[in-house]
Formats: sequence, C-alpha cells, structure tokens
Amino acid sequence: MGLPSIARLSKLESSSGARLIVVSNRLPLTLRKTEDGWNTEHSSGGLASAMNPLLRKGGGDWIGWAGDSNEQDQEGRRAVLQGWAEKEHCFAIEIPPDVAKGFYEGYANQTLWPVFHNFPSELKFEARDWDAYVEANRIFAGAVAERYKPNDLIWVHDYHLMLLPQMLRAKLPDAAIGFFLHIPFPSSEIFPILPRREELLEGLLGADLLAFQTHGHLQQFRAALLRVLGMESRIDQLAVGSRPVRLEALPIGIAPEEYASLLLNDKATREQCAEWVTRDRGRKVLLAVDRLDYTKGVLERLRAYAHLLRSSPEFKEKIILIQIAVPTREGIDTYQDLRTEVNRLVGEINGKLGTPEWTPLVYINRSIERTELVGLYKLADVCWIGSLRDGMNLVAKEYVACKPEGDGVLVLSEFAGTAAEMGEALLINPFDEERTASTIARGLSLDEQERRLRMTMLHQRVARNNVFRWGRGLFHRSKKRSLSGDATSTRNRGDCKCSRSATLTNAQLAAY
Ligand code: ADP
Ligand code: F6P
Repeated sequence: MGLPSIARLSKLESSSGARLIVVSNRLPLTLRKTEDGWNTEHSSGGLASAMNPLLRKGGGDWIGWAGDSNEQDQEGRRAVLQGWAEKEHCFAIEIPPDVAKGFYEGYANQTLWPVFHNFPSELKFEARDWDAYVEANRIFAGAVAERYKPNDLIWVHDYHLMLLPQMLRAKLPDAAIGFFLHIPFPSSEIFPILPRREELLEGLLGADLLAFQTHGHLQQFRAALLRVLGMESRIDQLAVGSRPVRLEALPIGIAPEEYASLLLNDKATREQCAEWVTRDRGRKVLLAVDRLDYTKGVLERLRAYAHLLRSSPEFKEKIILIQIAVPTREGIDTYQDLRTEVNRLVGEINGKLGTPEWTPLVYINRSIERTELVGLYKLADVCWIGSLRDGMNLVAKEYVACKPEGDGVLVLSEFAGTAAEMGEALLINPFDEERTASTIARGLSLDEQERRLRMTMLHQRVARNNVFRWGRGLFHRSKKRSLSGDATSTRNRGDCKCSRSATLTNAQLAAY
C-alpha cells in the first residue's frame, strides 16, 4: 500500500523523557526477493496499518523481522535494511531461514493462530517448531536489549512474541514493558489444548501491562490463567511475586484523518472514484477487503452472495460485489487450499449467475494502493465484514472513516472485535448463509434516514476512538509503574516463576 514515509518525530521523548521501542514480528515494510534483487513493499495487516501513523506522529524505533530470510545477495539485502534503519527507524532483525519457517509458518501461524481464533481442528504442532518459536523470541530479546536505554518504554505486539516479555524482564529487570494482543484470546475451554500453554502464559507475565482488544478477551485470559497456572487475578491486575501486572482492554483504532484527507486532497483518489461512480451508475456496490485468511470468512461470504443472487432475482444486474483478497502466508497448505477453493467459487458464481452485461463478482487477489482502497471505500454502498473470528478488524473502521457524510452501510460480523464498539452496524452471524443474505438485502434497501443515522454515529465513534487515543492509553498505563516510583521494587523482576504460592491475594494487590 502507498503509506507515507515514516519520519521520526520526538514528541513522546520530549514530553516525558521516555523513548518508545515498538517490537512486532511484522514491520510496516516487508522485504521481497525479485529477479531484480531485493525490493521493499508495504506490509498489509491491521498491526502495521494501526502502528504506522502512531509512530510517525509520536516517534520511536520499530524492531521486527524483515519478512524474508532468504540468504541470497547478502550485500543488496544489507543495503536495503540499512536504508530502513536510517530513513524509517525500522530495525530489521535477521532470523535464520529454518528458524523463521518453524517460528512463523509453524508454531505462530499453524498452532497459535488457529487456536486463538477458535479453529482447534486446524491446529498443527511439531515440537521443533516450538523450539524455533523460542529461538526467534530469543533473537528478538537480544535485538531489543541492544537498542534499549534506561527509561525507554518497550511495547511488544501480538502472538508471535508471547515469550518476549519474560525474556526481556530477565535481561532488563527495570524496563517498562507493555504487551498488546491484536488477535482474540480464546476461551478457557480451548486455550488449554495448546501445546506449551504454561510457557506462553509465563512469558506474557514478564510484562508490566497486558492489553487486549476487548473486555471479553481479557476475561478469557484471566480464566486461562486460573485454569492453567492456578493464578487468581483481579479485573485490572494480578501479582507475579511482588510485581504487579496491569490488565486492560484497549480496542485499537485507526488514524481517520489519513483517509479523510486522501478523499479531500488527493486528486488521483478523487478522479479514480469519480470514474468508478460513473461506471457503476445504476448499480449498488458491495465491498469486502480481507487478507485471504480462513478466519475472514471469504468462502462463507461468497456462498451467502450466491444465495442472495439466487433467492432475490430483483438484484440481477443491479449489484456487484468487489472482493479484495490480499495474499497472505502462502507457504502454508491451509492458505493455498483456501485460495484454490475461493478461485473455484469465484468462477462458479460468475459463470453460473453472470450475464453478458454483468459480472456479479469482481475478484482482486493482490495488494492494492491505499489511494485505490480509499476510492473503493468511498464508492461502496455496503461494506461487508464477515470474519468468523477477528481481534478487531480495521477495515470496518477504515470504511466508516471514508463516510463523513453519513452514507453507506456497514454489515459486520458479530465475531469481529469491532462489533463490541459498533452497535449501529447491521450485525450478522457469518455462519448463517441465509440470514446473512437477508441482512445484505436489508442493507441495500435501508431508507436514507436510518442509513445516515447509523453511519453518523459510527463515524463519530471512529473519529473519537482513534489510534492516537489508544496509543496515549497504552503509553500512560505502561509508564505508570516506572513513573509512580517503586512501590513494587525490583524484587522478583528477573524471574517470573508463576506458581500458586507466588500469587498475592486481592487484599495485598489493593495495597499497590
Ligand atoms: P488483519 O490484521 O487480520 O489483516 P484488519 O482488518 O485489522 O485485519 O487489517 C487489515 C489491514 O490491511 C487494513 O488496514 C487494510 O487497509 C489493509 N489491507 C487490506 N487489504 C489490502 C490490500 N488489498 N492491499 C493493501 N492493504 C490492504
Ligand atoms: O492483526 C493480526 C495480524 O496477525 C498481525 O499480527 C499481522 O501483522 C497481520 O495480521 C498480517 O499477518 P502476517 O504478518 O502473517 O502477514
């Protein structure tokens, strides 16, 4: 996507003396080997989209994996990565190819990802992938410790790095460490099926702050702690030895003005949009934008769309669905199988239901420029989020941000974290094809007054609960421990032996 360059500012540093170090597996830039050498691409995914504007505005260093561990043309590779460090303050760490595979394609995305998204049947586990996960977290810990200076604030992101807080605590006992989980936390019925579940929880407890997208995820984390480690917690904190760990629900947002300003000020976006409006005059446009991940419900959406077209002939030649599906995790069989099945279904829908004048489904299986994406958000009469399970879903918020005049309808899965904040959307159960189709039909014919009322409320909330507010919340809460003096002292900071006996009572906690 065409993201602006990340220039480091120093507002956070100057206002509080704290420097921010963000750590995530994915950087906002991804390295790609092509025939012409190493190329830089902008990463897709909610983490990169949300954190990028925050770091550009607030300043800070970002440590992550370059996205490709290919060892060819080391010189060219080093030159590109050096450019990232100097110009963008993105510090790419090197992970050996076999470790990267076991870590990223193995334990992170075939063990943790399905379990955390309630797909236990997709769980695959190899002990050697766990070893790679531990090793990758160790490599991250070394890289962070190298950059760390006293007073820095470390924010660790997402499920790839669940061992990192504890590893950092051992290396940097006095550091302020926050952890944010971008994906859902599973129920205490599902979490215990995870191989190496104890180590994961203990790894997280090295942080001073553990933050989740929703209250529901936070509660599920507390239930898992109790069930797996026998640790009790309060709604807002628990104790690891004498060290408090704060718990928070902080739903992540977007930088809405970036979208609004493209619509207002970017000539190419406006011209593109005007061209599409002319092309689609007389037709309503449904839009879906996802990484091609089985948790996003792309197959379920396509089946529901086919159902809608078959059951409501009045929509023939009157609507189109534009499905953008960004390729993701293509080295994993499940994702390749999904792509094959989606291709088949796209062909079937257009082949069986289309006419010489009308292609009911436009399918785009590549990354698109942000200007184009914003144009599509502006164009779409309905945005259709069908996640079977999702930490948040920023596409929903981006669509709303592009509807300042209150037109447009958001159809939203009740299983996306966003649903907790966006009650004015038309909610769907994406597993129910028939009802989803009837909700889409309702969205297409919603009267103008109701449509505007719903969208205006949504727009106000997306504008208010933006990523800068989220960042301030996380910043304030992660800093609290070091700012509030050291009531908790450094006892036990270096280790995180979580046991029943190490757990303080709530009465003791209240004394902090
Ligand atoms: P996830 O993090 O699981 O991918 P989100 O909906 O939270 O899901 O975030 C997806 C992000 O990726 C959004 O910011 C969206 O703008 C971006 N994105 C989605 N599709 C594309 C695409 N085709 N090209 C570029 N970026 C995309
Ligand atoms: O938002 C969830 C998330 O898994 C991020 O952690 C990640 O960056 C994004 O989706 C995209 O996935 P990947 O990094 O595997 O391309």
